[in-house]
Amino acid sequence: KILILDFGSQVTQLIARRVREAHVYSEVHPCDVSDEWIRQYAADGKLRGVILSGSHASVYEETTDKAPQAVFELGVPVLGICYGMQTMAHQLGGKVEGGHKREFGFAAVRARGHTELLRDIADYTTPEGHGMLNVWMSHGDKVVEMPPGFKLMASTESCPIAGMADEARRFYAIQFHAEVTHTVQGRAILERFVLGICKARPDWVMRDHVAEAVAAIRKQVGNEEVILGLSGGVDSSVAAALIHRAIGDQLTCVFVDHGLLRLNEGDKVMEMFAGKLHAKVVRVDAADLFLGKLAGVSDPEAKRKIIGGLFVDVFKAQAEKIKQSHSRHVAWLAQGTIYPDVIESGGAKSKKAVTIKSHHNVGGLPEQLGLKLLEPLRDLFKDEVRELGVALGLPPEMVYRHPFPGPGLGVRILGEVKKEYAELLRRADDIFIQELRNFRDESTGKSWYDLTSQAFTVFLPVKSVGVMGDGRTYDYVVALRAVQTSDFMTADWAELPYALLKRVSGRIINEVRGINRVTYDVSSKPPATIEWE
Ligand code: XMP
Repeated sequence: KILILDFGSQVTQLIARRVREAHVYSEVHPCDVSDEWIRQYAADGKLRGVILSGSHASVYEETTDKAPQAVFELGVPVLGICYGMQTMAHQLGGKVEGGHKREFGFAAVRARGHTELLRDIADYTTPEGHGMLNVWMSHGDKVVEMPPGFKLMASTESCPIAGMADEARRFYAIQFHAEVTHTVQGRAILERFVLGICKARPDWVMRDHVAEAVAAIRKQVGNEEVILGLSGGVDSSVAAALIHRAIGDQLTCVFVDHGLLRLNEGDKVMEMFAGKLHAKVVRVDAADLFLGKLAGVSDPEAKRKIIGGLFVDVFKAQAEKIKQSHSRHVAWLAQGTIYPDVIESGGAKSKKAVTIKSHHNVGGLPEQLGLKLLEPLRDLFKDEVRELGVALGLPPEMVYRHPFPGPGLGVRILGEVKKEYAELLRRADDIFIQELRNFRDESTGKSWYDLTSQAFTVFLPVKSVGVMGDGRTYDYVVALRAVQTSDFMTADWAELPYALLKRVSGRIINEVRGINRVTYDVSSKPPATIEWE
């Protein structure tokens, strides 16, 4: 395995992902772990190398964080990236100076001398025969004097020491960010480090991980019982399938249907988990309860609070019931927490990681229920969770689904939520999704569902006029929304083919009586958001 010490850069997660993409297991831990911790971590002999990340510090912020000195005494290769390079230089006897100018953006780096890390890796070669790399830089400080034993590995005009190496000790450092896709050869460089220099074995594949994960769950749970809240989303579905594979009937899934799911979603979840996998699933049909509490409420945040709160109440009541009725000790609450949730919520105990959101965690629930938390996906990235789901036999169309918000259609019906609106919206949305799956892009052969990151229909509680036959209609309007994004923080509206839009609007207006107008949302995020509420 590879250890990544996090100095708080926003892109530390990407280092872990790149390493995992090379099929080598990696973990992110905060940079301020102790020397003792490091020695313990390496004691099982499985540690093949250490990567020191960049830092969150900007020109306005000073940081004096250091790597535990023990990192340099383990005898394994170490790679410093950006701030990681600076701290390596500093800690091993070199010199770092505050830059007068912050360097940010693309840079052309000349690879100097022959080092194992950059050997034969280049974007192009100059007429003089120098290998050049197009890289992404973001730093203020820089190394001005290399520590004893190091030789120059890379340089740019404004940063003469942009890379250095002590090949005897297998210490490497680069000032640029190899983990971002802007650095074209970044993947090759990180792969060279973990496979070539650390000689880590590329044995991290989801197919093989199943057996290991199953064994770990069995060991952790013993013969106790587990409860899991199944939402139909990717993470909880894969967690359920994995735990079920491990402990079968010791797992009870609770599926709370709040009446704001997509068309036939509840039946599909039951068919998959109860029908195909033969898992124990309790379906709680709480649609009337939710719709009742939502009556007369139109503020989006109030709606979210009601749905979230009620969800927890219903789940809790059901969990208590299961606890009472089981002869064996119900001791665990399982959740589909995944690695980005852990890192983002600072759960990796990194005080540096910037907390962005934590709406994945039903905070406090395990304590309230007196249950221990079982999180079998907490080491996995989303794409790994999907691969695992496929390896467990879940259908790809379930595992590669677009994200769906917890409050469901509750935030896709603008203003007050009514049963009648939800029914119209469900049918319209189903038509949109069907056609996105049907229509393929000619050049790639991919469906428009796969070419978009999230797509859905929004119900507008306004009526507009139309004609049908000889008469006038006065019916509701829906908006179609389809976006492309890699991180959901920014998003572009998708340029869907007119033929697709035409087909969807024709079908919705003809098949869903009550809707007579369909519009397409052409707003990007920012300033618009993906959802309408
Ligand atoms: P926005 O609308 O903020 O959406 O651009 C970004 C992503 O977050 C999802 N989203 C939610 N997910 N509960 C959720 O579980 C919510 O209340 C919620 N609001 C937005 C949205 O679907 C998109 O993927």
